[in-house]
Parts: sequence; C-alpha cells; structure tokens
Amino acid sequence: MEAKADLDIAITEGNRPYEPRGAALALFSCREREVLMEGPAGTGKTRALLEKANLCAIKYPGMRALLVRKTRESMTQSVLVTFEEKVVPPDWPILAGASRAQRQCYTYPNGSCLVIGGIDRSSKIMSTEFDLVLAFEARELTEDDWECLLTRLRHGAMPYQQAVADTNPDLPNHWLNRRAGGTRMIRLLSRHEDNPTIHADYLANLSQLTGVRRQRLYKGQWAGVEGRVYADFDSAVHLLDKRDIPPDWRRVRSIDFGFTHPLVCQWWAVDGDGRMYLYRELYRTRMLVEDAAKRIVALSEGERIEATVADHDAEGRATLERYNVATLPADKRIHIGIQAVSSRLRLADDGKPRLFLLRDVLVERDPRLSQCHEPACTQEEIDHYVWPRELSGSSRNSEAPAPGCDHGMDAMRYAVSYVDGLNHADAMLDIRVLGVRE
Ligand SMILES: Nc1ncnc2c1ncn2[C@@H]1O[C@H](COP(=O)(O)OP(=O)(O)OP(=O)(O)O)[C@@H](O)[C@H]1O
Ligand SMILES: [Mg+2]
Repeated sequence: MEAKADLDIAITEGNRPYEPRGAALALFSCREREVLMEGPAGTGKTRALLEKANLCAIKYPGMRALLVRKTRESMTQSVLVTFEEKVVPPDWPILAGASRAQRQCYTYPNGSCLVIGGIDRSSKIMSTEFDLVLAFEARELTEDDWECLLTRLRHGAMPYQQAVADTNPDLPNHWLNRRAGGTRMIRLLSRHEDNPTIHADYLANLSQLTGVRRQRLYKGQWAGVEGRVYADFDSAVHLLDKRDIPPDWRRVRSIDFGFTHPLVCQWWAVDGDGRMYLYRELYRTRMLVEDAAKRIVALSEGERIEATVADHDAEGRATLERYNVATLPADKRIHIGIQAVSSRLRLADDGKPRLFLLRDVLVERDPRLSQCHEPACTQEEIDHYVWPRELSGSSRNSEAPAPGCDHGMDAMRYAVSYVDGLNHADAMLDIRVLGVRE
C-alpha cells in the first residue's frame, strides 16, 4: 500500500516515530487536488499535514511545499513549534540557521523545500510554484485566498499536486464547509480517537465547554452562534493585517480589570477620519494590577496616549495611578455602548466600517486560557458575545449580554464610548469624587 511504503521511507530516514490513524492515515494515500482535514480540537490534524509534508519532501527530491496561515507571524508559535518539536529530530540539519520567527523555509539535502508563508505576505507566495499547499487554521482564510493558493499548485516535482486545509469547524455556511459539500474538495474527518497521545483531562476540559465552542471543539460540528450582539462583525471586513500607526494619530487605552477572569488592556488608534484600530492588547488572567501597570507603561513607551478609560474598580485605578497610568472612569452604560460599537461596525457610505481589529496584536497568549480553549483575545470573543438565549428583540433593551465572553467586549465599549464622546455626567462626577488626574 502506498501510504505504508511512504511511512517506511520516513522511518528509515530517521524520523521521530509516528503512526497515523483514521483521517491522518487517509491523508497519506490521498491524491485529490483539494482536501479539507476537519475536526475538533487536538485530533492530530496539524501533525498529520506536517508529517505528510516532511514525507513528501524526503520521497520526492526537489519538491516544494507551502506551509501557510493567514499571517506569517501566527505560524511561529503554532505550526512551526509542532514541526520542529514533533516531526523532525532535533539534530536534523534542516533546522539549522534562522530562528522560527525569521525562518523562510526548511531546505532538505535532496533539494526539497518547505516554504513558510502568510497570506499577509502573499507577494512571495504568488511568485512561486508548489507541489503541496498546506493551509493551517484555514477557517481564517477567505475563499479568494484559497483560490489564489490553488493557482500556485503547478510545480510538477511530485506526481500529483495537492492543497490541504486544516481546520476546526466554524459556521455551517462557512465557505470551507460549503466547498467540501460539493465536488471540488474532499473531506477527511479527524477525530479524537485518531490521536493516541490524547489525555482524558484534555477531553474532560473540552467536554466542559459550553455552547457553540463545545459543539465545534468537542463534538466537531459546524455550528452557528445564535443571538450575536455584534451580528455585523465580519472577519473579512473588520480584521486587518498589523500595520504601523502614524505618530500623529490619537491613541487611547481602555482597561477592564480581572484576576480569575482576564485583565484586558486595549490600545486604540484613531485615524484622521475617526476610524478606530485596535493595535495592541494585553489579555491575561492572574496578573496583579501592579504587574499589569508596569507592562502597560513599558508597552506604551514613546507613544502619546491621550486618555486611559477604565472600569470603576477604585483600588485597581489607584494602583494604576501609582504607576503613572491615570485613568478616566469608563462609561459603563451597556446598551448605549453596544449601540455605539454596532454603529461603528456597520459599513459607512464609503463602504468601510469605522472600527477595525488588527491581527496578531496580542502581546502574549495566556497559556491557561488557551489550554481551556477559552477566548484569549478580543478578536476571539466577539463572535461569542451573545444575548441570553431566552431574550429576543425588545427585551434585549433591558438585559445585558450573557456573561462569559465579555472582557475584551467591555474594554472595547469603554474605548468607543470615550472616542465617541459619550461619557456622561455621572462618569465625569466620578472623576472629581475620586480625584483622578485628567
Ligand atoms: N498519531 C500521532 N502520534 C503521536 N502524536 C500525535 C499523533 N497525532 C497527534 N499527536 C500529537 O497530539 C498533539 C495535538 O496534535 P495537533 O496539534 O496536530 O492537533 P490538531 O488537531 O491540529 O489540534 P487543533 O484543532 O487544536 O489545532 C500534538 O502534540 C501531536 O504531536
Ligand atoms: Mg492544529
């Protein structure tokens, strides 16, 4: 059998032991042009794609594969870690040279090459041809991104050319689910039993997730979110690649306190037309306000911050003040704030919204949150910020969204209320009562 023969080659070349199962095994013998490798969290999808890339690199001298995510930066801490720590032995020469963050490719002694890319750096990708394209976390890509990648599949050093998309399920009408429902793309279902290293604790954590995250990450189902507060949020519109912020733009910080829940500090820039851009974010559990204050000061070095709006926790604000982070009390009126954010998310006459989140601006991922598969930044919260299930239409005017995914959401509301000049009299009175510097 072809797949078995391929594996023998890898093992004799001194690879780390790996025995693919289920969808991973099917991937080794699959020669279809477009493949969707889907499944819940931790089933071994990414490992399977990387093992296939390595195997093909050894088997077909001179082949070229592209390992790609939406952004090059997001490859460094995810895919490249698995590749270097799990797939290739530590002393392999292909690992010599550049650090993970700087690396452009892994070159094999037989001339094969695994190129590392991001859709945000697409000019280099688009000028190269590949035998294999492996797209990780492919639900972040647009169908246009995917179709552009397919045009690059014509290197011809392998007997077949293939693009594989690795993803957790997303919305039922996501383009990947629709494409794999047709004839162009075949679907491989990766399941927890395919991963021999999975722990009972890991599965128990997943089973305790609620709502749509449980359906997608534990059950592996494409599932929609009902009652999204920011139903207009569309990652294809509101997420932008990271960019430099011109020094003359207004800058504002907003803070939502937490310890068991994350403490969130967002940095927003406002362009000449009043559009807001989230350009940096601290999102940490178990961080003392004192430590957060030091980080916030260090991260803001050299930037002129016009104001910092914060949740009303008096002790928290006093601690920030001790570290020279003077704060204004946030306008906490939920519905007015939600309306203000919603109206910024809607497209204006020029076809653009007035609020954007930049990709890859999280200062560092909180390992506890990632381990529990909880949102670890504002971008990951926004689709899960929902009205309580039983509420509909008008009753939403008197109730708050369901608790849970609301830490970055609160901070975002505070920032928008400030920039839109909504902070009302009570909030201003609070400034005088607390004697906070303006
Ligand atoms: N067949 C296998 N043999 C040994 N280890 C495996 C196997 N399959 C998966 N693993 C290990 O299990 C862990 C999770 O695998 P991986 O990261 O590929 O999962 P995933 O399906 O991509 O998860 P996610 O949906 O969270 O991205 C990794 O450490 C990987 O090396
Ligand atoms: Mg993965």
